[in-house]
Formats: sequence, C-alpha cells, structure tokens
Amino acid sequence: MNTAPLQGIKVIDFTSVQSGPSCTQLLAWLGADVIKIERPGTGDATRDELQFDPDCPSYYFLQLNSDKKSLALDAATPDGKAILTKLLETADVFIENLHPGAMDKLGFSWEEVHKINPRCVYATIKGFPLSSKYKNLKAYEPVAQVTAGAASTTGWWEGPDNIPTQSGAALGDSNTGMHCTIGILAALLQRQHTGEGSFVYQSMHNACLNLCRIKTRDQLTLDRIGYLTQFPQYPDQKFGDFVPRSGNQEGSGVLGWTYKCKGWETDPNAYAYIILQRGAKDFELACKALGFEDWLTNPDFNTADARDRNKQAIYKRIGEWAIDKTKYEVTEILSKAGVPVAPVLNTKEIMTDETLYDGNTLVKIDQGGKIGEFVTVGVPFTLSNFQPTYGPCPTLGGNTDEVLKAYGYTDEEIASFANNGTTAPLPKQ
Ligand SMILES: CC(C)(COP(=O)(O)OP(=O)(O)OC[C@H]1O[C@@H](n2cnc3c(N)ncnc32)[C@H](O)[C@@H]1OP(=O)(O)O)[C@@H](O)C(=O)NCCC(=O)NCCS
Repeated sequence: MNTAPLQGIKVIDFTSVQSGPSCTQLLAWLGADVIKIERPGTGDATRDELQFDPDCPSYYFLQLNSDKKSLALDAATPDGKAILTKLLETADVFIENLHPGAMDKLGFSWEEVHKINPRCVYATIKGFPLSSKYKNLKAYEPVAQVTAGAASTTGWWEGPDNIPTQSGAALGDSNTGMHCTIGILAALLQRQHTGEGSFVYQSMHNACLNLCRIKTRDQLTLDRIGYLTQFPQYPDQKFGDFVPRSGNQEGSGVLGWTYKCKGWETDPNAYAYIILQRGAKDFELACKALGFEDWLTNPDFNTADARDRNKQAIYKRIGEWAIDKTKYEVTEILSKAGVPVAPVLNTKEIMTDETLYDGNTLVKIDQGGKIGEFVTVGVPFTLSNFQPTYGPCPTLGGNTDEVLKAYGYTDEEIASFANNGTTAPLPKQ
C-alpha cells in the first residue's frame, strides 16, 4: 500500500493558468517531484486572479498547485538559462504552455531540450494542432469550446436563448490537462522500451474535440439520412446540414430530459434528469413507477422508435408528474424502480455533501495562515494500492533556495541570482 506511481519522476513545470497546472497537479498527487517555474515577482497569472483577499493567492491558484515546489526563475537571463538547462539535464518530464513560439524564443524548444537530455519527455500545450490554420492563436477555455464543436452544439435550438453556449465544465482547460497527462504517462512507458523521451503535443482543441466525438457521430448520421432521431427537433422540425443544439436531450439513443420539480419558482436547480431506456423491460419498469401503464399498450409510446417520434408528449406528461415532487422525491421513486434518474445538484449541495469527502473525491487541504483550509477536487480515480495525500501550495518562489541548493548551487551563487534579476525581480528604477 502507498507506492506512489510516479515516485522518483522529476517534472519541470513551466506552465501557468489552468491547462498545464491541472496536468502537473495530477502528476504531483501521483507522487512526482514537480518544480513549478514562475516568473520572479509575478508568478502564475492565477495567483492574483479572482482573489478572495488581496493578500492571498486565489482559490484558482490554490486548487491547481498543491504539492508543487515553486522556483522563481527568469529563464531569459543568462543565469536563468543555465539553471533551467541544469534542471533539464536530470528531468524526466518538461512541460510548458506558453503562447505559440515563446518557448522556442527562450531557447528551450523540443529540439534543444532533447539535445540537453534525450531521456526527457517534452510536453507542450497549445490551442490548436500544428496542422491547424489557427495554430498561432493564443487560447483560453472558450477558444477551445467554440472551435471544437462544443459551443455550437450546446444550449437551446430555438427562442431567444438560441446562441452557442459555453459548458460550465472546463472542456478546454482542465480537460486538456488530463489529456496531456495521458500523453505524458504513455511517453514515460514508451521510454522504458526506447530509452528516449518523446515530444507530446497536446492542443486544447483536440482535447475538447475528443469529448465532442459523439457530435461528430451525429454529423455522420445527419450527412447520411438528414435527421437525428434522438434530437428534440425530430420529427417535426427541419434539420440543417450541421448538428444543431439539443437543449437537455440525452446525447445517446435513450430518451432523457431535465424535468421541473417542486420548488422551481424559487430554486433555479429544482430539476431532475429522467431517462427512459430503449429496452421493453426497462420501459415497463418506468411506466409502472410513473403510473403510466397505458403507455405499455399504446403504439405511440410502446416502442423506442415510437417514443422518439413522440418525445414532446413524453416531456409534457412526465413534466406534469414531476412538478409536485421535489427532485429528491423524483429520484427516490424512480431509482427504486430501476429508472436512471438524478437530481440536478448545485455547487453548494455538492460541496456540502459529506459522503464526497472520502479521501479522494473532494479533499480539504490545510494551507495554514490566513487562508486556512480549502476544498478541492482530488485525484479523480482511485488505485487499490495508493492513497494520495494532499499538501499545501507553495508561495511564489518559496522553494527557490532549496531547489537551487539541491542542484549544487552555492550560497554565493544563489545570492547573485537574486541580485541580478534571475530569481527575484530587479528593484524598480
Ligand atoms: C494562456 C496564454 C493565452 C497567455 O498568453 P500570454 O499572456 O502571452 O502569456 P505567456 O505566459 O504565454 O507568455 C508571456 C511572456 O512571458 C514570458 N515568460 C513566462 N514565464 C517566463 C519565465 N519564467 N521566464 C522568462 N520569461 C517568461 C514568455 O516567454 C512570454 O514572452 P514573450 O511574450 O516575449 O514571448 C498563452 O500562454 C497560450 O495561448 N498558451 C497555450 C494554451 C494554453 O495553455 N492556454 C491556457 C489555458 S488555461
């Protein structure tokens, strides 16, 4: 028990904001030794973005940088370049997410780092794949969502809210970090056979597009037959030649919808999601639980295909059934009968659910000082022989001396790096 999977793996983390830090956060929690390089004086942009207190790093930073070491380093000074080169000589992974071309300009391109240390895996996060006409764009979350089919397929398809819509989930940011983690782990395994590190190129676009795979499935179907049976527009409305937004309809072949429940007048999340499966047996269970046994013999509803054609009538009748029950009652009644159902939960409900504080799902980190304890989402999977621990985040440059000493620098050298602007900002003129 408790063999950290990435024990002994040294990661030089030249990332900021969310995409890169979410990757290195996971690597750190899996036991890697992560040295986060931050610009002296400013550091990761999220340190002072959306702060709850002007003297404290934001929750944005805290939630993505626990258990890392912070090395303040200006990689553009001659000493900074020499220090980074030294760190890379023994690194297992180098990861960066600067804007396109910036790392090459600093002199640490994949080719250069591969020369410094052929065993080092080099991971880079950018907005777009190298083949893309958008490859030089700077990218934040929405840039990925709007270009990878997420925004154009999310939201309402008619009425005043018929606009491309952002998902609340970080499909472009943390999702990219998770995809990049997979690439890095694959490259580390590959290195065991080849002895060489490889170049992992992860775009936010591709990570987001990967989660929009089923929308490309729908495009293929649409191109073939001109309509999509699972969409709420089917069968009455006309389809165009691209996948439309589908409101809250489930993305697969089963018939799912978000139903208004008791209390909706004051609670915007008083809703439950209810799914009617396609199988006859499952449908029978649902009809009995809902008290709609007449549907079992009615040809407008007693087959999955018929239900697809009459989904508006289904939404209406189940809606009337749900409206006088709370979302929890709906969930209890239907789940007992084996119907897939769940309450729509708001962030407060999730973060106050004690059952989620199981050591992995939601975790509390004691940052100490004025910040005290904060909550974050832990490693999103469990391993039978490893329990991660969750420690605090570093202050900006808080591990600079310790890291430099560990790499053999003397006290005099360390002092001179601080004085010449390499590890501390130069005094303002
Ligand atoms: C996020 C993003 C839009 C921010 O762009 P930005 O404001 O230009 O900031 P960057 O951090 O990329 O770089 C700013 C400059 O700081 C420099 N810099 C950053 N850290 C440095 C360090 N430790 N030492 C020396 N220079 C440093 C960069 O080299 C760059 O210099 P340049 O503009 O002269 O080339 C951009 O980095 C990007 O598109 N990244 C790839 C996609 C991504 O991961 N996006 C974030 C999603 S959460």
